[in-house]
Amino acid sequence: MNSYVRAANKPVPDAHPDRLRALGLLRGLAPRSSDHCRLLELGCGEGIQLLALGLALPESSFVGIDLDAQAIARGKELADELGVKNVTLQARDVRDLAASEGPFDYVIGHGLYSWVGDDVRTTLLDACRSLLAEQGLGFLSFNTLPGGYHRQMARELLQLNVGDVAAPLERIARARAVATDFTRALSDKDPPQSALRNELLHVLRASDSLIALEYLGPESTAFSLRDFDARLSRHGLRYLADAATFDLSPAAPRWLAERLGPGAAPIDEQQHLDYLTLRRFRQAVFCRADASPTGVAFERAGELAVFASVAPVTKPSAGAMKFRTLAGLELEVTNETLKLALSELGGRWPCGVRLAELARLVSMRTSTEVAPPELARLLFVNGLGRSVFASAESPRCTREPGAKPLATPLARLQARLGEPVTNQHHVHVDVEPAFNRHLLSLLDGTLDRAGLSSRMGDAIEQGTVAIAGVDPSARAQLRQQIAREMDACLAKLARFGLIVA
Ligand SMILES: C[S@@+](CC[C@H](N)C(=O)[O-])C[C@H]1O[C@@H](n2cnc3c(N)ncnc32)[C@H](O)[C@@H]1O
Repeated sequence: MNSYVRAANKPVPDAHPDRLRALGLLRGLAPRSSDHCRLLELGCGEGIQLLALGLALPESSFVGIDLDAQAIARGKELADELGVKNVTLQARDVRDLAASEGPFDYVIGHGLYSWVGDDVRTTLLDACRSLLAEQGLGFLSFNTLPGGYHRQMARELLQLNVGDVAAPLERIARARAVATDFTRALSDKDPPQSALRNELLHVLRASDSLIALEYLGPESTAFSLRDFDARLSRHGLRYLADAATFDLSPAAPRWLAERLGPGAAPIDEQQHLDYLTLRRFRQAVFCRADASPTGVAFERAGELAVFASVAPVTKPSAGAMKFRTLAGLELEVTNETLKLALSELGGRWPCGVRLAELARLVSMRTSTEVAPPELARLLFVNGLGRSVFASAESPRCTREPGAKPLATPLARLQARLGEPVTNQHHVHVDVEPAFNRHLLSLLDGTLDRAGLSSRMGDAIEQGTVAIAGVDPSARAQLRQQIAREMDACLAKLARFGLIVA
């Protein structure tokens, strides 16, 4: 069996420098603009995040380091194929980083902190402190307690059953088999049993790379937010926010806020909420301790770009209006300003709009003036923070593909290789069926719709692109249908944030 399990190599949308910068700007910091920045990724795997950034931000420079020489070699091949010159990938240990290699405006590490030994963790935080620019921002994801206690049960059970197996894929297969047997036997009615059962259901839904890392790997340690915060402080760093959400709601229910008292530190409130939600994962954004961030300054929100992948489920009406996000999250909104703002954002997705401009548009449609900070509060202090997000800049994408549609070289290459495709929000999209994937691979800005239809027709006729349920002898007749449906196919790719012009 193959002895190598590739890491997920997914880009991390929340670690995009524009997203991090938005969080920093809102807290009174002045992180450098992404279009002229230096960014370091620790444990970058194949460096997909960096390649996407390198292509989009040619004046910036990106460095990725990873112990895994095979992953770095593959990343370099991709970089060569894409002609990316501003990304440097190095096979080395984070413990060998020297302060003289900085400063970096952004230092990010995803899938690293919880999954290495304590000595690496310590050097990671030292490196972040010594390499971050004065107004720089760091990002580290980690497994969190108390949710991590549940994961630990599953980890111990699976490790008990794969102990004598060496081949990675066989270990994963055995872990899945154990998880299957135990989920059948454990009751979902008995609360303690259902805790382990749910965790094993996570295992059954997980990819090979996640099982190898999280459940079968040598290290997986969860930390409470308070502990992580204290570690940052010991290393001259300061916790700012979680990157996964722009939800700035005073999220504690009233009884908890009363219990904690008026002067409670935000970190304590967050820690208690982690117990209420049995939180298992965090993406911490931090800065240097001497950078002096402020509390959230909504006055600065007007300059941010905002996005929401919402589509209305119900017609605009005086009562509650429902929206659904691309990820399937349903939102019920009664506030009139919010209804207008979400309708506007949904109509623009995957593009966004500056919040100041959104406030102007909403004000035009209501009889009252809505100031940007007020709109920011409505959007981000209403539990909508998972569905609406802000970024310092808009990614380059369009809802309306031009006469000769263009996708990024990375997306085209990934489509050709049959891999998940990185969209302009740095989300991995599974572009299926094969027809759409092949079409995406052709979008190099040289073909108009007639040319694209002709090339797709050829590919189908030659059998390069298989269409399920279509008899090979009927392939030629598909040409007219392809031409008719080309606009709809391009619109779909555009809605997924895959078309840039
Ligand atoms: C879970 S993978 C994450 C890869 C990538 N960030 C992603 O999200 O797909 C963790 C990566 O950290 C790397 N790593 C672990 N310890 C390291 C160290 N001491 N120095 C450099 N890289 C390390 C591993 O080789 C692995 O590629």
